[in-house]
Amino acid sequence: MTRALRRRARRTHSVRLLRIGILVAIVIGLATSIFAWQQVQLEREIDLEDITRRAQAMVRQRSAQVLTALAAEDDTAQALLAGEVIGYRRLLGYAVFRPDGRRLAIGRGLLDLDAPVERVAADAVLAASEVTLLTHASGMLVHALAQPLPAHGQPQGVLVVVHDVSYLDERVAARLAQYAFWTLTVTLLAVALIVMANWIAYERPLSKLAEWMRRLRVDNAPDLPPAGLLSGNLHRESNELAASLRAARSSSLSLSAAMTHQEQVWTADRLRAHALAALADAQLVVVSNREPYMHQWRDGKPQVIVPAGGLVTALDPILQSCGGTWIAHGAGDADRAAADAHGRLTVPLAQPRYTLQRVWLSRAEEQGYYYGFANEGLWPLCHLAHERPVFRSDDWQHYQTANRRFADAVLNEIGSRPAVVVVQDYQLALVPRLLKEARPDLCVGMFWHIPWPNSDAFRICPWGAQILDGMLGADLLGFHLQQYCNNFLDTVDRILESRLDWDHCAIDRCGKRSQVRPFPISVQPWSERNVPLGSALEQRIAELRKQHQLGDCIVTVGVDRVDYTKGLPERFRAIARLLEKYPESKGRFVHIALGAPSRTHIPRYRAHMDKLEALADEINWAHRTDSWQPIHFLVAHHDPATVHAFMAMARVCIVSSLHDGMNLVAKEYVMAQHTGDGVLVLSGFAGAAGELPDALIINPYDTEQFADAMHSALTMPTDACRARMQRMRQQVEEHNIYRWAAALLAGLAEASTDVRGRLN
Ligand code: G6P
Repeated sequence: MTRALRRRARRTHSVRLLRIGILVAIVIGLATSIFAWQQVQLEREIDLEDITRRAQAMVRQRSAQVLTALAAEDDTAQALLAGEVIGYRRLLGYAVFRPDGRRLAIGRGLLDLDAPVERVAADAVLAASEVTLLTHASGMLVHALAQPLPAHGQPQGVLVVVHDVSYLDERVAARLAQYAFWTLTVTLLAVALIVMANWIAYERPLSKLAEWMRRLRVDNAPDLPPAGLLSGNLHRESNELAASLRAARSSSLSLSAAMTHQEQVWTADRLRAHALAALADAQLVVVSNREPYMHQWRDGKPQVIVPAGGLVTALDPILQSCGGTWIAHGAGDADRAAADAHGRLTVPLAQPRYTLQRVWLSRAEEQGYYYGFANEGLWPLCHLAHERPVFRSDDWQHYQTANRRFADAVLNEIGSRPAVVVVQDYQLALVPRLLKEARPDLCVGMFWHIPWPNSDAFRICPWGAQILDGMLGADLLGFHLQQYCNNFLDTVDRILESRLDWDHCAIDRCGKRSQVRPFPISVQPWSERNVPLGSALEQRIAELRKQHQLGDCIVTVGVDRVDYTKGLPERFRAIARLLEKYPESKGRFVHIALGAPSRTHIPRYRAHMDKLEALADEINWAHRTDSWQPIHFLVAHHDPATVHAFMAMARVCIVSSLHDGMNLVAKEYVMAQHTGDGVLVLSGFAGAAGELPDALIINPYDTEQFADAMHSALTMPTDACRARMQRMRQQVEEHNIYRWAAALLAGLAEASTDVRGRLN
């Protein structure tokens, strides 16, 4: 607000206050004046009655002598009355008249008042009864009472008693002055009270509110609105307004040219403030198949491991930042032993931040739901890796049962409280609908971490319609890319009875709207993870080099779950081709393939692992020297510190997915490039390729191009590497996991307003 506007607002307020003051003064003045006037009139009447009674008493006192005088001739009568008509002080005197109106005697004090005295006497004769007159004459207020005096039923004459009652006027004037004084005092007091009340009840809280708003605007103050606002509503509305402001500010994802890099970066704290606003009083519940911390028996003790995979990497920092409950399958063999009787524990163990609620599944359920339908059916269905999906109706039954079990666990967790539930991934496609059927008021989001195929590919799923219907229970459906959103909308259009709103990327079905939005997932900065940095990192790198006998070789790294979608055979073959095509690279580099065993109960995965080991062995055999081999295929569950150290030492990282929703390894590598001269070789079929055009983009099926890209990466001048890496780092730093979560929560908050709107 400009100073002029502020002045004008103050002036308007003062004028308004003045008007109220004047109005109050007029009302009080009028009321007290009417009251004062009535009081004065009453008092005057009492005084007049009093004086009339006195005059009557005087008439009674004098009447005998006056009647005696009236019976005599005029001269005698006048002599008899001479001493009787004299007044004293306020009693001005008497006058006596014959019945024919002739004046017989009059007191000295009445000599100037003969006109009113004669008039009142004449009136009494005429009326043949007592008459009083109150009049101003000779500079006085005069009270005259005329009483006819009868004898034997005949009027003998009239006796007039006259008083000077000027004191009545003086008394009225004094009374009015008194009332005026009190009116003024009361009015002033009332105005002062109004001004004070206005300040206490209105100006002070509002100026506090204004100051709070200013701090909210300038410093993003996180505290609540000031106490003592005019009404609870104003307090609540201010709070909600602040919440929406913070949410709007936080969720503003457009890059402003004026914003510095630092301002663009989301942090755990900023996300926490945003989540508080976006969630309002609702509880945050995340539900996924995979748990973030898994317990396994090692040497007779439960040991915790963090399972590999993008979902856990992405969501754990969010729950750590926002708190809440993560519901997931307790798949570790020591999971029951490490949780309480209800399957609950708080994690991370070293510094608990949120609750992990484990869901127990039978072996048969896990086999049918997880290994079968989810990973032999939906996984290959959604990844275009030329792996044929397998659909068995037994698996489908288990999938439905398990989804019901997860939904029940969520409903049990939240009871009747409000909650925002974020359902994760293809293993739980039916959960959103199950939740909404039980609790239509819940805000339910679903994030799909893998690609969504085109509608022709999806149509082969025998239970495709049920899968889509289950997902459409969600108010918000998130995918990594707009292309996946488009594929999803098109699939729904082809398979389900529904109305598509392409303009708003939404689907209306059975009176319910589901919004469909892209939210490209990302990673947490390594500095926030419990991994060695600085000299400790250098030391760890040196240890690893020694342990794996890497000498001075340039390290290229790949970090993957061992999965046929990751393009590992393609990568190994490209390495072989590189060595053939560029023999000078022999002995100069090694490829560290960190492979986390995954889904090993599925024959296809076991076969894939065997094939890969054989292939690595074959290539190593063909190209090895006494002290060097090109591929180190390290199959194990590598902890984050080891992964980070390999990424930090690697000059090149290779992501060769045949199809991948996003691929967080690419982003983790970029964030691990502390010196900034690494090169990322990235499959164009990974979602991350759209965000990281400075990577060397490859087609993993094109072995020749893949080998050339690796050669370029190994030989790229440091300056060029740095420039590319710097741009990629900026992109990932500014689009980190906190920003992803903030956007998702903002989307959910919007959807939840929509839910409330539709329910009310
Ligand atoms: C992908 C999926 C996740 C899954 C992860 C690891 O990232 O999108 O849902 O958790 O792979 O797979 P796993 O089967 O071990 O959970």
